[in-house]
Amino acid sequence: TDLSKIRNFSIIAHIDHGKSTLADRLIQHCGGLTEREMSEQVLDNMDIEKERGITIKAQTVRLAYTARDGETYELNLMDTPGHVDFAYEVSRSLAACEGALLVVDAAQGVEAQTLANVYQSIEHDHEIVPVINKIDLPAAEPEQVRMEIEEIIGLDASEAVLTSAKSGIGIEEVLEAVVAKIPPPKGDRDAPLKAMLVDSWYDPYLGVVILVRVIDGVLRKGLSVKFMQGGTQHLVDRVGCFTPKRTDLADIGPGEIGFITAQIKEVEQARVGDTITTVKNGATQALAGYKEVQPVVFCGLFPTDAADFEKLRESIGKLRLNDASFSFEMESSAALGFGFRCGFLGLLHLEIIQERLSREYDLDLITTAPSVVYRISLGHTKNEDAKVIELHNPADYPDPSRIVEIEEPWIKATIYTPDEYLGSILKLCQDRRGIQTDLTYVGGRAQVTYELPLNEVVFDFYDRLKSISRGYASFDYEQIGLRPGDLVKMNIMVNNEPVDALSLIVHRNVAEDRGRGMCERLKDLIPRHLFKIPIQAAIGGKIIARETIAALRKDVTAKCYGGDITRKKKLLEKQKKGKARMREYGNVSIPQEAFIAALRMG
Ligand code: GTP
Repeated sequence: TDLSKIRNFSIIAHIDHGKSTLADRLIQHCGGLTEREMSEQVLDNMDIEKERGITIKAQTVRLAYTARDGETYELNLMDTPGHVDFAYEVSRSLAACEGALLVVDAAQGVEAQTLANVYQSIEHDHEIVPVINKIDLPAAEPEQVRMEIEEIIGLDASEAVLTSAKSGIGIEEVLEAVVAKIPPPKGDRDAPLKAMLVDSWYDPYLGVVILVRVIDGVLRKGLSVKFMQGGTQHLVDRVGCFTPKRTDLADIGPGEIGFITAQIKEVEQARVGDTITTVKNGATQALAGYKEVQPVVFCGLFPTDAADFEKLRESIGKLRLNDASFSFEMESSAALGFGFRCGFLGLLHLEIIQERLSREYDLDLITTAPSVVYRISLGHTKNEDAKVIELHNPADYPDPSRIVEIEEPWIKATIYTPDEYLGSILKLCQDRRGIQTDLTYVGGRAQVTYELPLNEVVFDFYDRLKSISRGYASFDYEQIGLRPGDLVKMNIMVNNEPVDALSLIVHRNVAEDRGRGMCERLKDLIPRHLFKIPIQAAIGGKIIARETIAALRKDVTAKCYGGDITRKKKLLEKQKKGKARMREYGNVSIPQEAFIAALRMG
């Protein structure tokens, strides 16, 4: 295709502002789908994505749009993952485009996540076309939003397109704006092949499918290619695009986006950001910006029923086929038995995997406290040299007397909130050891940035933020590196036995508070037994908090249900069922829910 007729763009939007609905409309307008096919949203195709309304894997569709100037344009619309955990994938998708549509909800206005994505898009030198969506809503204030886009983001919004993706208003205007404002790609058809690996996923029929953006040269079937960073060679056996239906093509030329397959079995071999070139007469220099993503949040996953271990192993293996960014290795715990220590890009990523395991694979799991990766410098001993280790699991915490320094990852968080919630949000950040670095007001809203230790955010920061702001605050973060901290390991002991799934690394200053909170919550979460149960929090040998669950009177069932034999039976059955979801620690049965609930900070 003639380069001047190509437009590559993505859609930036805050969750729920209408990105998918708009994308579907654009596809429909260009004839990619019939009404019936439209009834299913096409760009988000995983169940969980649909339910939670988040996009996990990028998908790109190629549209043929005949513009008002009579010319037919090739539009490549790239769907980008909508969450910070997938920031690197987003950055590669953006690098494959020349522009972006910025969709802002006419009733909600600009939000923190929108900002982060817009800035990233601006960094990629994108032409940004503002779209104010949901103008059909009674609460829509398009003029107010136009002003916000100009004041907060600094974009000219005088020509923002007004749309209602739901009712199909303004769709052609969006397409015209894409053609008129977003610049065509550049590229040299005769230069050695250079294509960026934008995304990859596993398809049960085709094997690994790779989404590419060709920079120079041409990709075609039968070509021997190599991945410059991964160092592997492959034979291209299919090239094509999605319209959104999968369509085979003769080739993918410079400036174009499409997919290839090359008999690759594992996504791990097709890492996002790699450069694809030909084996013969290939490019000598890889594209800039390649980065290997590393998991940052770790937790243990154990089957509630030990008999499910094999099933868990298989299921994790299957999920991993499609997601090279999460890691797992076998782990055994005194009380939880065999399970896996898994690494994730962030909390949302963890939740997605956990939810897929329980929903798609029907597994009942116990998840241990999420932990970040600490860097620990150890001094030398008689038998060992000094060294630096990475700690993924509180259970592997080394002998404290050997520790010279512990460093923990920090993030820069941007929170955007209506004024009235600012006070409670500042307090929340302060409680989590945050350092405020900026606070600005725009209209009735505040934008505040904090530096925070990631370990204070991994558990329930986001939930707390949403609940204290009644859902209005939005949050976005980026990692800013490691910093030393006075961190200690806290053990929780139930009936004098340490519960490994509940041990965690905390800052010394907040340890006592956390310990007390956990003991109090566990007191309510663990049912009474026939004996007294002490619950203690300890750092090393020192007890820092303690609660006691009183003993149960033996004849309680007999008393309550004495006369009614059916009710008694029911109760016993219920208890039996409950058993499967309990774990024994020092003769104490702890319900599955307690493991996570105990960690929620009040
Ligand atoms: P993520 O995929 O989570 O990023 O969300 P999204 O931005 O793709 O939002 P989506 O398209 O799923 O729309 C979110 C909700 O807004 C859905 O319930 C849509 O039906 C609704 N919606 C989208 N566009 C419009 C619109 O123009 N008007 C109205 N009233 N509702 C809309």
